Amino acid sequence: MSAATAAAVTYPKSLLLRNAGDARPPTKPSRLRLCRPTPAFSVSCTALRPSPVSPPASPADASLSPDRVFNFAAGPATLPECVIRKAQAELVNYRGSGMSIMEMSHRGKEFDGVIKKAEADLRALLGISDEYAVLFLQGGGTTQFAAVPLNLCTPEDAADYLVTGSWGDKAYKEAQKYCKANLIWTGKHEKYTKIPAFDQIQQNPDAKYLHICANETIHGVEFKDYPVPAGKDAVLVADMSSNFCSKPVDVSTFGMIYAGAQKNVGPSGVTIVIVRKDLLGKAQPITPVMLDLKVQADSASLYNTPPCLAIYICGLVFEDLLEQGGLAEVEKKNVHKAGILYDAIDGSGGFYVCPVEKSVRSFMNVPFTLTKSDLEKKFIEEAAKEGMVQLKGHRSVGGVRASIYNAMPLAGVEKLVAFMKDFQARHP
Ligand SMILES: Cc1ncc(COP(=O)(O)O)c(C=O)c1O
Repeated sequence: MSAATAAAVTYPKSLLLRNAGDARPPTKPSRLRLCRPTPAFSVSCTALRPSPVSPPASPADASLSPDRVFNFAAGPATLPECVIRKAQAELVNYRGSGMSIMEMSHRGKEFDGVIKKAEADLRALLGISDEYAVLFLQGGGTTQFAAVPLNLCTPEDAADYLVTGSWGDKAYKEAQKYCKANLIWTGKHEKYTKIPAFDQIQQNPDAKYLHICANETIHGVEFKDYPVPAGKDAVLVADMSSNFCSKPVDVSTFGMIYAGAQKNVGPSGVTIVIVRKDLLGKAQPITPVMLDLKVQADSASLYNTPPCLAIYICGLVFEDLLEQGGLAEVEKKNVHKAGILYDAIDGSGGFYVCPVEKSVRSFMNVPFTLTKSDLEKKFIEEAAKEGMVQLKGHRSVGGVRASIYNAMPLAGVEKLVAFMKDFQARHP
């Protein structure tokens, strides 16, 4: 427990936070994990999350408010409860300014502090050097599907796409409008369950960049290492929307990384772009000004009004990730959470099945099916009744999907695993 945590206030009446309908006696209370407090505010509370099927949760994350569910949504996704509470406490009067973040000028000193701190903390988390611009933009990951070729290519230039799921495929299709995009490999015919050996893919030596989707949110396929672009000046570009800040990444091996915030680092509305500065300034003439990354870099993401509230929340998440010990520590937790879930699937004797090749299984999005597929609806409905929601697989693939981003507590995964075992036992 950090010094900040130890110094925090504890609400004395923890019982008030229990579910009104929960008649069971309290067991051992434990503390809410805290974000680093601002000087003006810190809060902690003791509370219990009742769980009919799981064993007592791990001390690190057992004490979540009982009126919150375990939200396994793929995005917008669960956020750290401590971040939401901190934002709530600061919402009406941001650090003595007399205004909320939503009401103040994006060019005023308060917001200037917010965006600069968010950038500095993200640079610290990922070890991003000054050779890279860090941008907070709008339009989601989808807009970057166009911004990438518009900024890195002429219409005659080639660009390579290695497609391991639906998002990479969408990026490839969008790029075809703005450059000569090559599909150098696709996992479509194997239902996106694999990543090829890098020495088996034929890259175009003239390609300006090689694009990958680092984690395919729908299919649950994640790159564990990265291909090296073949062309002399080619760069690697990655859509990291669904595994951004889930583990350390050597940013210097990429020309550009982009990520919609709404899975791992914040609410929807802001997209983070990390781009090597020397690649900027060559946008195609048709590039809309908002997609010109040089314009955005030169104006420090303030060319127009940015998504102030979303950037502020991202900043709180970055503070929290730093407080947890940085991305190496965060990765350990994610590997552990994913491990117990995949073990439960693989150890079910075929009751549950994950189709993804083991070596490339995502630590963030775990898709699985029930061999008795007629039970899937019941599984999802019963889980929801137990406070585990948004487990339905993407509409394009069906089945079940558990998104277990950074903010999903270990207790949530443990509860899901206990439920899976119980459900299986009840359906022999
Ligand atoms: C990997 C990936 N890339 C891109 C997108 C599209 O993001 P947005 O909805 O922010 O445009 C998503 C959305 O889920 C995604 O998972």
